[in-house]
Amino acid sequence: MVTKTNNKLIIVLLFCFFFNSVHYGQNQELSKEERLEWFQDAKLGIFIHWGIYAVNGIDESWSFYNGYITYPDYMEQLDGFTAKNYNPKDWAKLIAESGARYTVITTKHHDGVALWNSKHSDLNVIDKTPAKKDVITPFVDAARKEGLKVGLYYSLLDWSHPDYPNFLRNKKRYDQDDKRWNNFTKFNFGQIKELTKYDPDLYWFDGDWEQSAEKWKAKEMRELLLKETPNTIINSRLQGYGDYATPEQGVPITRPDSNYWELCMTMNDSWGFQHNDKNYKSVNQLIRILVDCISMGGNLLLDIGPKADGTIPQEQIDILKGIGRWTNKHKSAIYGTRAGIPFGHFNGYTALSKDKTILYLYVDNKPNGPLLIKGLKNKVNRAWVVGNGTKLSTKVISKLYWSDVPGLLYIDLPEVVQDKDVTVIAIQLDGEIDLYREKGQVIESN
Ligand code: GLC
Repeated sequence: MVTKTNNKLIIVLLFCFFFNSVHYGQNQELSKEERLEWFQDAKLGIFIHWGIYAVNGIDESWSFYNGYITYPDYMEQLDGFTAKNYNPKDWAKLIAESGARYTVITTKHHDGVALWNSKHSDLNVIDKTPAKKDVITPFVDAARKEGLKVGLYYSLLDWSHPDYPNFLRNKKRYDQDDKRWNNFTKFNFGQIKELTKYDPDLYWFDGDWEQSAEKWKAKEMRELLLKETPNTIINSRLQGYGDYATPEQGVPITRPDSNYWELCMTMNDSWGFQHNDKNYKSVNQLIRILVDCISMGGNLLLDIGPKADGTIPQEQIDILKGIGRWTNKHKSAIYGTRAGIPFGHFNGYTALSKDKTILYLYVDNKPNGPLLIKGLKNKVNRAWVVGNGTKLSTKVISKLYWSDVPGLLYIDLPEVVQDKDVTVIAIQLDGEIDLYREKGQVIESN
């Protein structure tokens, strides 16, 4: 018979078991694949370079380092950083509208100005600018409310810190001084520890090139981050201790070696806001760059540079909305896809569904007749226009019953279903994709 005391005991035992398993679950280390899955699925992220450099509209940090402006003049920009029209909710909404699944914001660039309430330095926007507020916390909250993953950019090097060896391109503070370097390391770890409080989904380091992994204590840094925030991921700029590659500005020509990568790119020619820089890429060009990345299994991290008052320049808003039109229409052919098939089978970009049973074709030119796929061994169950639904007719020609070489698969793409930027075709196969990769001689030569 179950007595009252027994009942209580059972409840207590159940509670302990449940509590322990939850607790245990939290502490279990995820594999690299598990940690990076959301990243591999995300495809589009928005980078934000915001800092005092937006006041004059000059190169972030590099302008004083390279001597285009004196250090004191650069720092005078602190007085103009008002953030008076800053609306983090609008930022997050706009970013989500672009179709991005994550966002990365500069918490501190090489100039050393922290945008959050850092206890380790008074060179921060709360103590030193008319903004007088932490601008990171409300953005992190707003981005999470929009369902975005949040990445924090942090420059390891700090050209303002009195104990950091490098100051200007032609002026160093010191060459070798263990005591000062240790002070700096303590400071760096202190700031990074503060950032872990945001529980970032991603740490985006920069500036690692100035010191070795040993000097940065990169290994210890990685251990600290994974201890404090076990689900997080880390970009490559940590002298070999990151998780994924970050090519910058140039779209890779061949598929990068790493399965995990992200191209970071400016919309015009600057990371931060610059009044003079009107050299924006068009929405069409950016969408084509995005599908180029997707077809090679990577992400695009596209940058915006808000003004010092916190408004986002109209050209950048227009671009984000323009990209959003396309991503919203083609969701199923973007998120969660994997790199496409090798070049040669189709004259354009492709991607595959995670289970490899749907082949996506991204058509970024007006076709001059039906599309062609070569070397596809599968049968096509159905082909349709993504975001439109129109079923397309397909036809295989030139298939010889006595040869292994697959026939030529032609797909009609009527003009009425074509998208003004990139048309996407989904091809449902009869199973996992199977490609003919042999030499392909139809008539044997011997
Ligand atoms: C470079 C620059 C920096 C910029 C970054 C973005 O490393 O130092 O100014 O923030 O690229 O990827």
